Amino acid sequence: MKVATAEVSVGLWVIMLANWAVLCRGALRVGFYGGKCGIADVEATVAGVVTGQFVRDPTIVASLLRLQFHDCIVGGCDASLLLDGMKSEKRATPNLRLRGYNIIDEAKAAVEKLCPGVVSCADLIAIATRDAVFLGGGGRYDVRTGRRDSLASAAHNLNSSLPSPSISVSESIKLFADKGLTPTDMVLLLGAHSVGVVHCSNIKDGLYNMKNTGRFEPSMDHLLVNELKSRCPENATTDNTVNLDQSSPVGPFTIDSAYYKQLMSNRGVLKFDQKLTLHPVTRPLVANLANSLDFPTRFGAAVVKLGAVGVLTGTSGEIRRSCRVPNGPHLP
Ligand code: HEM
Repeated sequence: MKVATAEVSVGLWVIMLANWAVLCRGALRVGFYGGKCGIADVEATVAGVVTGQFVRDPTIVASLLRLQFHDCIVGGCDASLLLDGMKSEKRATPNLRLRGYNIIDEAKAAVEKLCPGVVSCADLIAIATRDAVFLGGGGRYDVRTGRRDSLASAAHNLNSSLPSPSISVSESIKLFADKGLTPTDMVLLLGAHSVGVVHCSNIKDGLYNMKNTGRFEPSMDHLLVNELKSRCPENATTDNTVNLDQSSPVGPFTIDSAYYKQLMSNRGVLKFDQKLTLHPVTRPLVANLANSLDFPTRFGAAVVKLGAVGVLTGTSGEIRRSCRVPNGPHLP
């Protein structure tokens, strides 16, 4: 009996120590900046910046969502993507078309004025994206904060982390799983493709030369093929863009579940997105979301989960004073 009691208390100690370790490391939480920036409201300040930018340019919804994804999926949500430098992540080919750095710079300047060295760039990405998603019709969610910024950034870190446009669904499921994200999270996050654009160079094969046959992708809706061809002529000398969302009733700037309906009607613009309807794991998820009313809430929850991937908290990393430059020695 005594042995059993001793075992129980050892077990309790182990649980308490584990909890203590988690507390020491620090965890993300809603309202982390409450009272840390004098009487200023950090989240309201960022919302002001994002709203001002959105009024001028509603495509910032797409810019920020993609920025958050590309930051988080490579080494965690640590703002490593924002660092300037000849060999930094933002210089890697898949990141060359990312936009939205100026929005984070403006938000950083605004919060630095209120309380220098308090708000991390990694949190600014998460807060700004949340505000943009809301303005873009994607529903409002609470954002958890307390992230810290990486000390460095390296382009070669992208190699195995960022999904290429030609990735298979199975490979993508594995890539997301490695970051703790389920196939449902992945399919929900891909709802971000209900806003934004794709360059013709990324879809031309499907329009003109599917698998080197000299023909278009036979399963693609023929009307869509013609619409896309008119915007992406075969011998064009410029790389035009087309909206990822070609037929949502609420337009190409609104985050909505019409994206999934389009996939079910073979009107996916990106080949990868259309492949989701062919894979046994993702097809039922797409079919379900095509008819769901709670997509905005579920999308927000998936973005929150993405925002927790590989975060630096507690005493790791730093709070950068400029999102483009580490506080310590500069990158080459
Ligand atoms: C396997 C996963 C994914 C693949 C293969 C993929 C691929 C792509 C490609 C090829 C483009 C077009 C780029 C261009 O031509 O300029 C694009 C755009 C975009 N992606 Fe993804 N993506 C994936 C996941 C995600 C996720 C998880 C998000 C956000 C949560 C996201 C957000 C966006 C947005 C918003 C755009 C439009 C960007 C703009 O208008 O500037 N993507 N993606």
